[in-house]
Amino acid sequence: MSNTKQFTYNVSDYDQFSYDYSQYWKKRRYEDLAEKTLLDNIFDGKRGDWFLDVGGSYGRLTNSYYSKYQHPIILDYSAKTLRNNWEIIKNKYPNTELIAANAYKMPFKENVFDGALMVRVLHHIEHPESYYKELRRILTNDAEYVQEFANKVHIKATVRALLKGNFKFFSQEPYAQPALTMAEGSDNVEGIFYNFHPKHVKKLLMEQGFTVKKKRGCSFLRSPLLKKLFNDDTLLFLEKIARSIFSWTNIPPSVVFDTILKKEDKQEEKYAKIEDILCCPQCKGNLEIEQDSASCKKCNITFEKKDNVWDFRVQ
Ligand SMILES: C[S@@+](CC[C@H](N)C(=O)[O-])C[C@H]1O[C@@H](n2cnc3c(N)ncnc32)[C@H](O)[C@@H]1O
Ligand SMILES: [Zn+2]
Repeated sequence: MSNTKQFTYNVSDYDQFSYDYSQYWKKRRYEDLAEKTLLDNIFDGKRGDWFLDVGGSYGRLTNSYYSKYQHPIILDYSAKTLRNNWEIIKNKYPNTELIAANAYKMPFKENVFDGALMVRVLHHIEHPESYYKELRRILTNDAEYVQEFANKVHIKATVRALLKGNFKFFSQEPYAQPALTMAEGSDNVEGIFYNFHPKHVKKLLMEQGFTVKKKRGCSFLRSPLLKKLFNDDTLLFLEKIARSIFSWTNIPPSVVFDTILKKEDKQEEKYAKIEDILCCPQCKGNLEIEQDSASCKKCNITFEKKDNVWDFRVQ
């Protein structure tokens, strides 16, 4: 088994504070629709069996991939969010499974997923190289992976750095944002919040065998002034134009990579149900699965399914 090394990384644990992430979107219709329209476009034409939305929260983006893949899974470290939204998600997207787990240590066998997505989560990942290694393990050869991330060198940050003469800013080192109040869940000083240089993310992906097929920009018009001047529909119209002209640049605050993974291992098995793809998130060994519990004899851990959601969280 690969990836059995024991390590512990900090996780941005949304369960530590009572925060309903869906509320964050109430006043951000432009950004929400900008991301959804872009993803609809990216997923158009993609197909597959198992699909993973890493850090998928309350299923904000499920509509973009749901009809494309037979078995969509939303994985999130916040068990509370998954349990609170289970019924709403299942009503809308009945085939979707919800699993509480850590993106660094996922409870899935090798070579399972034909597709995966991560949006607005990479800023919480302090060790993306480790996450990408884990992601490579669970994806099949030719799997397609869509990665959104906060762009460190977007136009406003670049102008700010130039005015300050801060040329160190342009390195590929991730930029740790100062803790912000309620910045998408990071409401404590320990919050993990990184902005990444597109070249750095691309390099880390390539090291694990991913090729960036297409780079796209998103939320070009995310600015309080522009939001005052134009209504959401005008902003979305302008966004479409900006996207078609400037996606190759580092102007936008949010960048999306549409990637494909090449690896030697060929997927041999077809899996029909969720229990078939699960393994111990810690040692990647087999689990003894019963109705509402799953045990790893080697690690001596029992994982539980409560309120319809499996809890495979390990740190
Ligand atoms: C800002 S929200 C984004 C949710 C969703 N992707 C969206 O765009 O609507 C970030 C999510 O990432 C999850 N998260 C953060 N670190 C994680 C980790 N190590 N493993 C799994 N989920 C994580 C949080 O629990 C939270 O639900
Ligand atoms: Zn184990």
